[in-house]
Amino acid sequence: MTLWHGRFSSEPSALLWDYTESLSFDRTLALDDIVGSKAHLAGLEKVGILTATEAATLYDALIVIESEFVGGSFSFSDRDEDIHTAIERRITEIAGDVGAKLHTGRSRNDQVATDLRLFTRRELTIVAERILDLQIVLAELADDAKDAYLPGYTHLQKAQPVLFGHHLLAHGWALSRDFDRIIATLGRMDVSPLGAGALGGSTLPIDPSYTAAVLNFAGPFENSLDAVSDRDFVAEALFDLSLIGVHLSRIGEEIVLWSTEEFGFVRLDDSYSTGSSMLPQKKNPDIAELARGKAGRLIGHLSGFLATLKGLPLSYNRDLQEDKEPLFDSLIQVGRALLAVNGMLSTALFDFARMKKAADSPYLCAIDLAEFLVKKGIPFRKAHSIVGGLVRDSLERHVPLEELVSAHPSLGDEAAVLLLPGESVKRRITRGGSGTEAVALQRSIFSERLTID
Ligand code: ARG
Repeated sequence: MTLWHGRFSSEPSALLWDYTESLSFDRTLALDDIVGSKAHLAGLEKVGILTATEAATLYDALIVIESEFVGGSFSFSDRDEDIHTAIERRITEIAGDVGAKLHTGRSRNDQVATDLRLFTRRELTIVAERILDLQIVLAELADDAKDAYLPGYTHLQKAQPVLFGHHLLAHGWALSRDFDRIIATLGRMDVSPLGAGALGGSTLPIDPSYTAAVLNFAGPFENSLDAVSDRDFVAEALFDLSLIGVHLSRIGEEIVLWSTEEFGFVRLDDSYSTGSSMLPQKKNPDIAELARGKAGRLIGHLSGFLATLKGLPLSYNRDLQEDKEPLFDSLIQVGRALLAVNGMLSTALFDFARMKKAADSPYLCAIDLAEFLVKKGIPFRKAHSIVGGLVRDSLERHVPLEELVSAHPSLGDEAAVLLLPGESVKRRITRGGSGTEAVALQRSIFSERLTID
């Protein structure tokens, strides 16, 4: 029998059941549902709807159920429609008639909204911690890199030498914004929906502020219709997770490129690489590839759920049940990705000599020559064209650029020094740029941000 059988003259069809049930995935919320129920019964007791004895009986039943879930012995019935009905059924089995009082003044609509907020707030906090851990790995790699440099690219064409630490910290800053975004999402979702009932509150004197405080939310909802239908926090979480996925995907793409023989900037540890079932020599960067590939699925979850929300009238609609699977999956995938990418990067061997070799081309210092001319009073556009002409000449006539620079009346030997390996990064002075001092300052600012307040 269902919880709502009273109004119905026949049992639900098996087809309806299979299509509408959510127990197969919302059992993930079991412990949060119990936390929510404990708060609800404390609230009912506080305003005198439950006696102290009744509340204690229900509380004890919840403790038993909690240990059944933790120990893996909770048994579901095929009449359980979702996790909420499963737990309520079990309460009545354990506590008898008083079990029927737990749902007083509550609907599954405010219950599920509460459960999902409790779940999301905890899981997002774990993601935030893992982001910080990955930022720390990047910062440590930046320290290990010391003054190593590699070509910086635009359009995937070599552009200027940049310190490797600068490159690593660029990914670090993206993750730092991801961290901030999660903290902001957690702040906005810090509202308890419990007490909204099905949609309009209750005639019973229940106190949403009290249950909000018990559940450690900043406060209760202001509008019960909004409370049961608001899934902004799910959409925001899916966006935050998608963007983390996009950032990890970009790191992944670089690792895929860099681990090729052609680049050779990195060798992944064997324990973070995979092999080929046919080609014995292969060593593949599968974590990096999946960090890239799984971003597509995260974006899919976000856009799919936004599409679910867009046509919904107020307030609760069963469509909202579609919030869970994308959210659960995105959290699992991003959680694992952060750990796997962390392991892959922290065990990788970066080949600074290969990076240097790729960056030590005088052509990558062409801008330094143009700026040398600017310092002598030549307008930048003219300087750009002079140096561009020398580059073309060097390439067409196969004459080393250094030679042409030394022989040039406005450049000469003083300018040719700028083309020597390592000079370019040393001389760059702008704040936030890839010069040695600027990167050291950046590194210390980056460290100041690596805390959860
Ligand atoms: N399984 C439902 C969900 O996840 C729970 C709420 C159902 N409420 C209802 N009135 N049918 O959204």
